[in-house]
Amino acid sequence: MISPYRLIQLKRDGGTLPPDMIEQFIGGYVDGHIPDYQMSAFLMAVFFRGMTAEETSALTKTMMDSGERFLPEDFAGMITADKHSTGGVGDKISLILAPLVAATGIGVPMMSGRGLGHTGGTLDKLESIPGFNTRLNRRQLLDQMQKIGVAMIGQTDTMVPADKKMYALRDVTATVDCLPLIAASIMSKKIAAGPQNLILDVKVGRGAFMKSQQDAAKLAKTMVDIGTAHGRNVQAILTNMHTQPLGRAVGNSLEVMESVDVLTGKGSKLLRELTIVLSAPLLIMAGYAPDEHSAITQLNKLIDDGTAYEIFKKLVETQGGDVSSIEPPYSLPLGKPVVLKSSISGVLSGIDPMIIGLASIELGAGRKRQDDSIDPGVGFLLHAEAGDTVQKGDALVTVFTAKPLPESLKTYILSAFEFDQEPSEFTNNLVLDRISPGS
Ligand code: URA
Repeated sequence: MISPYRLIQLKRDGGTLPPDMIEQFIGGYVDGHIPDYQMSAFLMAVFFRGMTAEETSALTKTMMDSGERFLPEDFAGMITADKHSTGGVGDKISLILAPLVAATGIGVPMMSGRGLGHTGGTLDKLESIPGFNTRLNRRQLLDQMQKIGVAMIGQTDTMVPADKKMYALRDVTATVDCLPLIAASIMSKKIAAGPQNLILDVKVGRGAFMKSQQDAAKLAKTMVDIGTAHGRNVQAILTNMHTQPLGRAVGNSLEVMESVDVLTGKGSKLLRELTIVLSAPLLIMAGYAPDEHSAITQLNKLIDDGTAYEIFKKLVETQGGDVSSIEPPYSLPLGKPVVLKSSISGVLSGIDPMIIGLASIELGAGRKRQDDSIDPGVGFLLHAEAGDTVQKGDALVTVFTAKPLPESLKTYILSAFEFDQEPSEFTNNLVLDRISPGS
């Protein structure tokens, strides 16, 4: 048995860990022999020292094998696909994409995560729907895939338990924004859940974990290489998380409502556009569309004719959620509204997603400690987006909160709204780059 102390020391001092050491350390953490404080020290050492490609791939494999796994062939002949985002503010695309892609006939066994750092998580959003159960066991997942072709689940004590524990610890120890830890976390889950085709949405900018396009491209390439080495079809798209949050809603219940808005043909155009941009390559990889144009046409039709929304409702019902709560005009939990207005007139050039993300955690939409519970009713409804002209006195954002909103937090939230600034390198570009195997 390795000494956890020596392993942490080796990484702290810039050494390279052999695969068997990584395997024993992660195994010891999952079975409870290694405590959170040693794992926290290890994560921080990796944060500062990084990992080689070989270490990252060994970490991914160990995490992936830490529990039960699915193989593409477990889905009884079904062609499968999935998508994962590296995390952004207001990023609710999984809620729209999973039923939309499933509406084409492609199976979507989606394994997601909870809120991480200043970003929200798909599981927390889904759990704002009363009764929604994200903890399916192997049999339930396979049965549901046969029945409705889509399932949205999280890591459990038996499926990728290493990521379940490490993810929750990283969330509260400032060790999220670290390339090898993100790559191993995402790819261990995604390979373990078994989809054959995978699209990765790698967010770039001040509201993302990767601030520069260069770092995001490196992360994307690492993940594409890992997935390819495991026999999966993987592509990555680098997208803008700099200019503003994604869509008009930030916060768990509000993001479910905005997802349903898009699924019912309403809501943010940018959100619909990005969902389709990320879905189209899955149809092509899966052999369901010959090219992007045809994929986009199919996807638009499945939103416009209501098929994707019907599948979302079936998904909610099958996983125990209250379907009536997600039918417009919605009856999801929501705090009391407080409207914040602009004190100036001008053209809105951006809304700093990091400020909105941090303010949402402050109000209870995310966790500051591992045992914190989430308030699904906390949210931000943005009334303008970059490029809009705003007059003094116009509402900029409605904040939903059960807690009182102190003046200092109001001022902080309003500081996210930027007027008349020079366009940045990111402005107006939704898609920044695409990374395929070998690129
Ligand atoms: N999403 C994950 O699943 N893990 C990370 O580390 C970051 C985003």
